[in-house]
Amino acid sequence: MEPSSSSSAPDEAWVQRDAAVIWHGFTQMATFADSDPIIVDRAEGHELIDTRGRRYLDAISSLWVCTLGHRVRELDDAIIAQLGKVAHSTLLGNSATVVIELSEALARVLPVNQPHLMFASDGAASVEQALKMAFQYWANIGSSGHTTYLALGDAYHGDTVGSLSLGADGFGSELFDPLRFPVMRTPGYNNPNWASAAIEALVEHAGKLAAVVVEPLVQAAAGMHVARPGDLRRLGEACLDTGTLLICDEVATGFGRTGSLFASTLCELSPDIMCLGKGITGGYLPMSATVASRKIFDAFVDDGSAGEPRRDRTFYHGHSYGGNALAAAVAVRHLELIEDWDVLTNVKDMTSELARLLEERISVLEAVSEVRQCGLMVGVELASRCAGSGWGKLVSQAAVRRGVLLRPLGDVVVIMPPLTITSDELAKIVDVLRESILEQCNVSAPS
Ligand SMILES: Cc1ncc(COP(=O)(O)O)c(C=O)c1O
Repeated sequence: MEPSSSSSAPDEAWVQRDAAVIWHGFTQMATFADSDPIIVDRAEGHELIDTRGRRYLDAISSLWVCTLGHRVRELDDAIIAQLGKVAHSTLLGNSATVVIELSEALARVLPVNQPHLMFASDGAASVEQALKMAFQYWANIGSSGHTTYLALGDAYHGDTVGSLSLGADGFGSELFDPLRFPVMRTPGYNNPNWASAAIEALVEHAGKLAAVVVEPLVQAAAGMHVARPGDLRRLGEACLDTGTLLICDEVATGFGRTGSLFASTLCELSPDIMCLGKGITGGYLPMSATVASRKIFDAFVDDGSAGEPRRDRTFYHGHSYGGNALAAAVAVRHLELIEDWDVLTNVKDMTSELARLLEERISVLEAVSEVRQCGLMVGVELASRCAGSGWGKLVSQAAVRRGVLLRPLGDVVVIMPPLTITSDELAKIVDVLRESILEQCNVSAPS
């Protein structure tokens, strides 16, 4: 199976122009040009189309952001309509109607008590805001000593220095150890006793903690490690019992990925602070948000009536593009479409369909050690005989050659399709993955 092609002309020229001026994230630039990068020119529905007219089914939702596909007419129209009003104005000290509308719409569905939203542009920035908010919360209420965070093994919260500190080792983060601030760490979801260990640490060290930070239900970048909702609920209860703040990072799990609009809801969690990003605009424009519950927000409100001298409670933090009007307009329409199109029902149906296909065609392969799935988040872990030598990358490249865009996390091949994916498209993704594994791992299909 080859990607459909309207032209076989090489796109070497574009690759060379790119390599001359662009530095790609998480990419060794010495080998970039030789790794057959896709140079996307346009897209249609669930497919990306390169400069040669070749089509690729976007099975990673353009790094987990694209929810309803590309070039959705309704989303395009929302941006065009907003362009006729205003593209951007600052939210520092002022506001914009469309951002107020978005915040009202989100407040109606977020599992956070009386939320207030602070906007930024990337997931990592929303995590940085959350860390600082939690830290200053304790200072504002006059409680000293809350100077560290409890985070989990295998955690990933972004690449800025604060979010990197919260994250576990891996992805080259150890190099930055002299810059990373220390946090308390208990095991991640791949340890069945992770919740008990976290709760134990919580009970012992609550007085030192500014917050506990979790990725509810799925540690995505760790390779899709999935937790039981009941374990997260227990952790949430322990936070309440010990008076510890809970930060839920839903940058990856938010906006329908797990079958619920938010994974926290499935875990019956009502976090003090929540981080949103990625799917918030349906994958159209960069936007993230840190959501503060009423308790957190109130600790920052200060009308000065308590008299002087006193410390200023204002949160001195804000990004130039926080609350961008174009991003807000597409995010409002995106939320409406999730409801109007009953997208969550499709996620549930396709979750079962994908589970069945994976069980029949992928789990049975000798080269696969484990398949982990939560909603439309899947990690296919290659067996140790294939692991550790860049097999994840080789398998993904083989899939790309067959017209399905996959990207690995080490030796875990990730499938993260748009939420509007169809049965036929899922079958194509799974078949291509199977052929690619069989080809690259040099094993025969079970009879
Ligand atoms: C749970 C989680 N938090 C934060 C981030 C960082 O988001 P961004 O890449 O938008 O900075 C990610 C990215 O994958 C993530 O999975």
